[in-house]
Amino acid sequence: MTKLGVGIIGCGNISTSYLKLAPLFKSLDVKAVADINMDTAKARAEEFGVRAETVDDLLNADDIDVVVNLTIPDVHFAVTKQILEAGKHAYSEKPLVLSLDEGKQLRDLAASKGLRVGSAPDTFLGGAHQLARAQIDAGKVGRIIGGTCHVMGHGMEAWHPNPDFFFKPGGGPVLDMGPYYITNLIQLIGPVKSVTALATATFATRTIGNGDRLGETVPVETPTNIQALLEFENGAVVTLGASWDVWAHRHDHMEIYGENGSIFLPDPNFFGGDVEISGEDKEISTVEPWDHPFSVANQDERANYRCAGLADMATAIAEGREHRCNIDVAVHAVDVMTSILKAGEERRFVEMTTTCERPAALSPDEARALLA
Ligand SMILES: NC(=O)c1ccc[n+]([C@@H]2O[C@H](COP(=O)([O-])OP(=O)(O)OC[C@H]3O[C@@H](n4cnc5c(N)ncnc54)[C@H](O)[C@@H]3O)[C@@H](O)[C@H]2O)c1
Repeated sequence: MTKLGVGIIGCGNISTSYLKLAPLFKSLDVKAVADINMDTAKARAEEFGVRAETVDDLLNADDIDVVVNLTIPDVHFAVTKQILEAGKHAYSEKPLVLSLDEGKQLRDLAASKGLRVGSAPDTFLGGAHQLARAQIDAGKVGRIIGGTCHVMGHGMEAWHPNPDFFFKPGGGPVLDMGPYYITNLIQLIGPVKSVTALATATFATRTIGNGDRLGETVPVETPTNIQALLEFENGAVVTLGASWDVWAHRHDHMEIYGENGSIFLPDPNFFGGDVEISGEDKEISTVEPWDHPFSVANQDERANYRCAGLADMATAIAEGREHRCNIDVAVHAVDVMTSILKAGEERRFVEMTTTCERPAALSPDEARALLA
């Protein structure tokens, strides 16, 4: 198949994963990288044998069809808009944008230009989450009625040398980690109808625990301790605990309850892991692992197939079908997350104004077909 020429804007932390993993996929050919900081772009380009360009030159390059936005969340909207205005398909790291209005603007702009927008996370395409999906679709636990999700810890100032943005509006655990959980819930259960939440911030400041600014404090300007309730269009009710104020806990990442049984999923921030299931006998057992290429450990004993969503988008363009990490799913996830924060702030229920289809399942054979 013809490969799509890929350009990357944003050469920070996560760009190494994209540059390392893109060659696994037959539809992707990374040509160039850019960054607001040219030295950063040059260093990354040299490391991976691609061109370093200014953002403008990359957006005008004839051999680039799709541009991946790996900048910080605060500029995701502006950069993705710039990509679309340059006539290129766009794929963004999460969260797609920080407000529903921005998401709708990108959706309209892409539609008017006949371009695709894709968005991380693509971890829900991992073998583990697709195996859980296959159990649900095969009716193994009956109609889904509820679930619980927990993404809790005491982050991020302990390890990140510049953690300021995590604690400003647009940061916080719901927008930073929520995308992995919400997107997986959407693929497993479907779209959300309404949400409510209580949201607090336990600590007024955070003390940096690593790097040049060790010991410096940063102000906390967004909720960091959120308990939310999500009502799905199918009637299921799910609780989501998202906190950076908790030192230890014993909750599973994700449990999904059906009329006839329960499913226990591994961390949706990763592609692999064991899936467990129980029926009405309440006996919990591991689901027989399947031969899904996106479950195979390929990095530090973990399965990491970041770029899978981008590769699916590239293949979908060639095949004229919808891609799985599509803008409707991403905009709906933004609607859910921003509504949770609004519900917490205003202490009320918020109805979603967007919806989406469940993205298509990705079978082992379909995943294999994406690989080089
Ligand atoms: N670091 C991770 O482990 C990780 C994992 C998953 C997702 N993400 C997501 O990936 C994105 C990037 O995260 P990161 O950790 O790589 O951040 P980072 O701060 O390490 O890198 C961001 C890069 O973008 C550049 N940049 C900022 N504004 C720009 C602009 N307007 N134009 C061009 N370049 C610009 C910066 O100079 C920097 O090099 C975020 O959305 C984050 O949520 C990160």
